[in-house]
Amino acid sequence: MSKYAASACVPTRELSPLRLLLYNITIISEKKNDVMKIEGLTAIVSGGASGLGEASARHFANAGARVAILDFDEKKAQAVAADIDGIAVQVDVSDERAVHAAVAKVNSELGAARIAVSCAGIGLAARIVGREGKPSFDVFQRTLNVNLFGTYNLMTHAAASMMELEPLTDGERGVIINTSSVAYEDGQLGQSAYAASKGAIASMCLPAAREFARAGVRVVAIAPGLFKTPMMEGLPEEVTDKITADIPFPARLGDPREYAMMAEHIVTNPFLNGTTIRLDGAVRLPPR
Ligand SMILES: NC(=O)c1ccc[n+]([C@@H]2O[C@H](COP(=O)([O-])OP(=O)(O)OC[C@H]3O[C@@H](n4cnc5c(N)ncnc54)[C@H](O)[C@@H]3O)[C@@H](O)[C@H]2O)c1
Repeated sequence: MSKYAASACVPTRELSPLRLLLYNITIISEKKNDVMKIEGLTAIVSGGASGLGEASARHFANAGARVAILDFDEKKAQAVAADIDGIAVQVDVSDERAVHAAVAKVNSELGAARIAVSCAGIGLAARIVGREGKPSFDVFQRTLNVNLFGTYNLMTHAAASMMELEPLTDGERGVIINTSSVAYEDGQLGQSAYAASKGAIASMCLPAAREFARAGVRVVAIAPGLFKTPMMEGLPEEVTDKITADIPFPARLGDPREYAMMAEHIVTNPFLNGTTIRLDGAVRLPPR
C-alpha cells in the first residue's frame, strides 16, 4: 500500500480536530517528498540559446539542474551555457541522427536527462497559394521539419533514454515538455504551416503520454501566446502594439521567465500529463 493510501485510510471521523490537522500536515509533507525535485537533475533544452528556451535553461540551472543546450546557433548556445555552467551541443533538431548523438553526448557528460524541453522552432509565414499563385510547399516542409520533426526527434530519444533509468518517487522517470503555440487553435492567415506544426505537437501529447505512462515518463505541451523574444522582436513596433492591445490581461507580451515558470511547474507537479496548456493572458488571435 502506498504512503498516500496508508494515510488516506485513517478513520478521520474518530479524530479530534487537532489530530486531524496533524494527519493532514503529514499527508501534505509526504506528498512534498514525492514530487520530482529539479535540483541535481539533468535537463536538455532545445532552442536554449534564445527566447523561451534560454529562459528555461537559466531557470532550471538556477533551480540546481545541470543543463544542456541543444541549438543550431553554436555561438549563442556556448554563451548561455558558459553563463549557467552547462554545456552546449550544436545540432539541427530536424536531423534525427544528430539529435540521437546529442542526447547520448549529454547523458555521458552530465548524467542521463530526466527533463527534456523542446523550444527550438521557427515562425515562417506564407499563404498556401501565394499572391501570384505560387504555392508554399518549401515553407510548409521546412516548418514541419524543424518544429514538428525536431520536437518529435528530441522527445523520442529523450524518452527512450529516460525509460532506461531507475524510477524516482512515485514511479516517475522523467518529463518531456514540448512547445506548441496558441496558433494551434487560432492560426492566423499565413500561418497554416506554423499552425499545422504546432497543432501536431498538441495532438501527439496525449498519445505520447499514454505510450510512456508505463515507464513513468510524462508529456505536457505549453501553447504560448505572444512572448517578448527575438522571434517577436523582429516585428515592426506598430504590429507589436496592435498585438498587445488585443491581449486582455496583462496587456503586454509574455515574459520568457513566465514560460520557464510554467515549465518548472510541469516538472514538479506529477499529476500534469497528456495535455496542452495555453499560457497567453487570455488572448485569442484574430484572423489576421
Ligand atoms: N515568442 C513567442 O511569442 C512564441 C509564441 C508561441 C510559440 N512560440 C514557440 O516557442 C519556441 C521558442 O520560440 P522563441 O520565441 O523563443 O524563438 P527564438 O527565435 O528566440 O529561439 C528559437 C531558438 O531555436 C533555435 N533553432 C531554430 N531552428 C533550429 C534547428 N533547426 N535546430 C536547433 N535549434 C534551432 C534558434 O537558433 C533559437 O536559438 C518556438 O517553437 C516558437 O514557435 C513562441
